[in-house]
Amino acid sequence: MTQDELKALVGRAALAYVEPGSVVGVGTGSTVNCFIDALATMKDRITGAVSSSEKSSDRLRMHGIRVLDANTVDEVRVYIDGADEIDHAGNMIKGGGAALTREKIVADRAERFICIADQSKLVTTLGAFPLPVEVIPMAAAQIARKLRALGGEPTLRHGVVTDNGCHIIDVRGLSITDPAAMECEINQWPGVVTVGIFARNRASICLLGTADGVKTLDFGGASKTA
Ligand code: A5P
Repeated sequence: MTQDELKALVGRAALAYVEPGSVVGVGTGSTVNCFIDALATMKDRITGAVSSSEKSSDRLRMHGIRVLDANTVDEVRVYIDGADEIDHAGNMIKGGGAALTREKIVADRAERFICIADQSKLVTTLGAFPLPVEVIPMAAAQIARKLRALGGEPTLRHGVVTDNGCHIIDVRGLSITDPAAMECEINQWPGVVTVGIFARNRASICLLGTADGVKTLDFGGASKTA
């Protein structure tokens, strides 16, 4: 199966986690686009969606799915999103599509994070994929210095302005052996909007697209660290 076929497969498989009558949290990216297309088949059975990006909102609306303001919604049962990398504990790197901040906000609202990914995303240790960090533009140089001190090689993602009007720094060369600790450290630097490590909001379940079909990785327990 091609990578696109695997994405379509897990996109459809995620429908099993959508509860009729509920509000669905929707992520961003090419795998989620497959999920949105599949969600259109049950659009009359859900209340609507809380979206993590303008791109996903546009696609949801194109299918006639209601996009709701996160502030007006009482409950988001599941958040369905892809990942750039996911480890065997459900920790992820996200933000390849620059939507990491809104992704983390919606993930934090949801009871469970269902990650959908093709098998190329499963890793032993996070960090081969460059870690995205969304930053307030005036803090970019200072944050880059701190990232270098951590052993990373930061580069500004040229020409990219996020939905929040901020910039993205991509960090190569990090071996993220303690994702929760690194998430905490980088997140508290002045000017960091969000770091693309999702450990405090890790996945509860990953639907992994493999040559043998969809493999369900259940990481157990709640996906959120209080
Ligand atoms: C968007 O900012 C990202 O977090 C995506 O979830 C991630 O890049 C996965 O995207 P693909 O499904 O396109 O690989």
